[in-house]
Amino acid sequence: MTFDRETAWQLLCEWTASPNLRKHALGVEAAMRAHAQRLGQDPESWGVVALLHDFDYEKNPTQETHVWVGARALREQGWPEAWVRAIEGHASYTGVPRDTDLARCLFAVDELSGFLVACALVRPDKTLANVPLDSVLKRMKEKAFARSVNRDEIRQGAEEIGMPLEEHIPFVRDAMAAIAGELGLAGAA
Ligand SMILES: [Fe+2]
Ligand SMILES: [Fe+2]
Repeated sequence: MTFDRETAWQLLCEWTASPNLRKHALGVEAAMRAHAQRLGQDPESWGVVALLHDFDYEKNPTQETHVWVGARALREQGWPEAWVRAIEGHASYTGVPRDTDLARCLFAVDELSGFLVACALVRPDKTLANVPLDSVLKRMKEKAFARSVNRDEIRQGAEEIGMPLEEHIPFVRDAMAAIAGELGLAGAA
């Protein structure tokens, strides 16, 4: 078994039928590859971790099961321990510390990527690349908007990687916008 993108994608699709969850994985992957590049790390493996971080979620959507089930499966298959630890760290309730750049970046982009998708979808042009920073910041204060997205985690994540939110938001937006076609956020067809 090769622990590469192809294997990760297969595993994700095996466990996850939802197109939106697959898109979430792809969006997080794009953001993680950008962070890897920024930090001189390996975009391929960072992308794999992103693809796998929620692969168990569709079948295990509770705090009692999500991440626990997936991490056990990944360990059984022999995926690198540092990757599994980073995946565990994206859910704060596991208590696994985010003690690597990989883990900190994954946590930082996870909620933000979902929030950016929500911001793009309410635009008439449905174009992620056109979502302005100030509107994202404003929407973060609107409790009723995308209420399932945890704002505190968006802020905390940026803090943990030492990037001001005003930089991190456009950084993730632009990384995701580069694959906007796959995410369905490239605008009118
Ligand atoms: Fe998750
Ligand atoms: Fe996620």
